[in-house]
Amino acid sequence: MKIGILGAGQLGRMLGLAGYPLDFDFVFLDPAPEACAAPLGDHLHAPYDDEAALAELCRRCDVVTYEFENVPAAAARFVSQRKPLLPGEAALVTGQDRLSEKKLFDQLGIPVPRYLPVNTREALELAVKTVGLPAVLKTRRLGYDGKGQAVLRTPDDVAPAWDRLGRQPLILEAFVPFEREVSCLAVRSRGGELAFYPLVENVHREGIIRTATPQRGDPLQREGEDYARRVVESLDYVGVLAFEFFVSGGRLLANEIAPRVHNSGHWSIEGAVCSQFENHLRAITGLPLGSTALRGHSTMVNFIGGVPALAAMAQIPGVHVHLYGKTPKPSRKLGHATVCADGAAELRAALDRLNALVAASEA
Ligand SMILES: Nc1ncnc2c1ncn2[C@@H]1O[C@H](COP(=O)(O)OP(=O)(O)O)[C@@H](O)[C@H]1O
Ligand SMILES: [Mg+2]
Repeated sequence: MKIGILGAGQLGRMLGLAGYPLDFDFVFLDPAPEACAAPLGDHLHAPYDDEAALAELCRRCDVVTYEFENVPAAAARFVSQRKPLLPGEAALVTGQDRLSEKKLFDQLGIPVPRYLPVNTREALELAVKTVGLPAVLKTRRLGYDGKGQAVLRTPDDVAPAWDRLGRQPLILEAFVPFEREVSCLAVRSRGGELAFYPLVENVHREGIIRTATPQRGDPLQREGEDYARRVVESLDYVGVLAFEFFVSGGRLLANEIAPRVHNSGHWSIEGAVCSQFENHLRAITGLPLGSTALRGHSTMVNFIGGVPALAAMAQIPGVHVHLYGKTPKPSRKLGHATVCADGAAELRAALDRLNALVAASEA
């Protein structure tokens, strides 16, 4: 089976690693010369809208997927006219635009924070009055890791936020004083079979996910699955989808979806019977889905901007290190480690050691 992947970052790399034992071959398309998935397959080094490169990708593959949600819609259309693109164009296009996502949630009866689209300075003033403060002003497109956002706490914050972000379509949403953040990772096969991983509790700092911990028996599991089911069924989705939520007043409020494997599912490589990466590949290639059940307790910790010494991490029991082979830069995701243990106390002890190393590497 030959699989084409639009994007060759760390998610592509982990898809490649999951596909290797299954004897899948990969062709990646990514404009970055040092794309970190490149060692896992062939790398077409071209812009996403390069039709000759897209045609070549289609020629060489049985099925095409993406690990980057900002692939241009026209490129997705071009591919889907030639080969199965899974998940499809509708999921990609919806997931690229925060307003389309929110409209979909509204249509499906999924609760969201109050929001309004903002295209002009006057519209921003009106939105601030309607939504209230504090609020978060976000670019509709191309935001990631908290980029393209401004928190408005007082009326004095409005003008600088507009100066920084105002040249593009925006959305203003109410600031949610959440108790916690969770994500629901769903996977749907070509035949419509559905599976859900246990809800994951995610801790963000400066808009970037730092840790992800799969929950055991989370009281919101059914609610998360219900909302994720509505989304994947309405989009006729195939593959893994991540749905991020705020927990507020003990209920879920939708934040955003990512139509791809997700950082909050990296723990599943060691912490689930079948990882999000293998399940995504199973789904798009028409195989039966693997079990999403937990194997023991686990937590994933990201390495952002710096990586602890491997020799020090390797002394921690139950640690599994993944380095992405990227050049270090501030705020860049360079790798992660998942700590696995049989019990909660053992997990806590190992995590304390890992977190101390991570804090030192970021300082
Ligand atoms: N309306 C909000 N209220 C409170 N916190 C928010 C809000 N929107 C975003 N955040 C915080 O910023 C993080 C990143 O925002 P998000 O909308 O998920 O964008 P992205 O992950 O694409 O950068 C969230 O996980 C959350 O911690
Ligand atoms: Mg997010």
